[in-house]
Amino acid sequence: MEQTTQQPARKKRILSCIQPSGIPTLGNYLGALKNWKTLADDFDGAFAVADLHAITVRQDPAKFRQQITSVLALLLAIGLDPEKSILFIQSHVPAHSQLAWVLNCYTQFGEMSRMTQFKDKSQSHADNVNVGLFAYPVLMAADILLYQADLVPVGADQKQHLEIARDIAQRFNTLYSPTFTVPEPYIGKQGARVMSLQDPMKKMSKSDPNPKSFISVFDAPEVIVKKIRSAVTDSEGAVRYADGKDGINNLMGIYSCCTGLDYAQIEAEFQGKGYGDFKAAVAEAVVEELRPVRERYERYVNDKAYLRDVAAQGAERASRIADRTLQKVMKKVGFVLP
Ligand code: TYM
Repeated sequence: MEQTTQQPARKKRILSCIQPSGIPTLGNYLGALKNWKTLADDFDGAFAVADLHAITVRQDPAKFRQQITSVLALLLAIGLDPEKSILFIQSHVPAHSQLAWVLNCYTQFGEMSRMTQFKDKSQSHADNVNVGLFAYPVLMAADILLYQADLVPVGADQKQHLEIARDIAQRFNTLYSPTFTVPEPYIGKQGARVMSLQDPMKKMSKSDPNPKSFISVFDAPEVIVKKIRSAVTDSEGAVRYADGKDGINNLMGIYSCCTGLDYAQIEAEFQGKGYGDFKAAVAEAVVEELRPVRERYERYVNDKAYLRDVAAQGAERASRIADRTLQKVMKKVGFVLP
């Protein structure tokens, strides 16, 4: 009788990356990092410091080096376990650059020209609109497709890049034969778009020249309290989620992410209370949310030997998966393999 050996089903894979282009903000944390930690328990996770992406904007070499290590320490500080998830530095896995080149040749100029982040960044860095900035979404597609990721947890600003990654995957699969898993974005209901505290029509961003507009994940408690106290609100004085109340809506979103309360519960909690009370509660919730992250970060960031080990082990595990996909691609395209 034929024996059927039942293979355990492969856990679905998630992949995501963060650029080491400054100190990450509360937006990065609530929109992405916090979800990575939650999802890492149920999926095979691979998470990278996207250093190759960061040089699309000029970086000071000494600061850049330090930021890469700092973001790797942050991945540990949010609670990701390097024994379970693959934590790595993008440039340590050459397959990212190699696949990106191949995929460049399967992506149209017109498609890239429509990317809103390229349009925004070419305005804010008008003196350095380089080809890397233009081709950035293709490198991002390579990051995702190399790992056959099923799910990509990101903030709402990355949705368009995810769509192009899906298009590139489908195009390649149709031209040759199924090669890439077509990834789905995972965009949290809350926190997907944390807005600037000073201009709640704009995304909270680490590159904003006004430091009062963003909370960095390493801000001291008293700094967080001050920044939230000076957040722009409106003159109505009622804590309720409604059109035209962008400042309050943003703070309610932040509070909801940190406490797990929904908007109705938040409105009930602050019924009859003013913005002063509400802001104090939001600040306290953010301080408590970030406290363990900051404390763990202090421990990891100074342990250079451990960080080096984590990066080396991560690069090895990541390369094993990435190289397999790259080989498949090279073969299908018709390259003569070495
Ligand atoms: P980056 O480094 O700008 O941001 C990292 C993650 O944080 C999210 N995010 C936000 N979420 C909510 N509110 C905000 N204000 C906010 N600001 C940032 C981003 O959506 C992102 O999820 N291109 C990516 C990095 C990347 C990547 C990848 C992501 C490179 N390769 C492959 C996923 C898969 C970026 O610049 O993220």
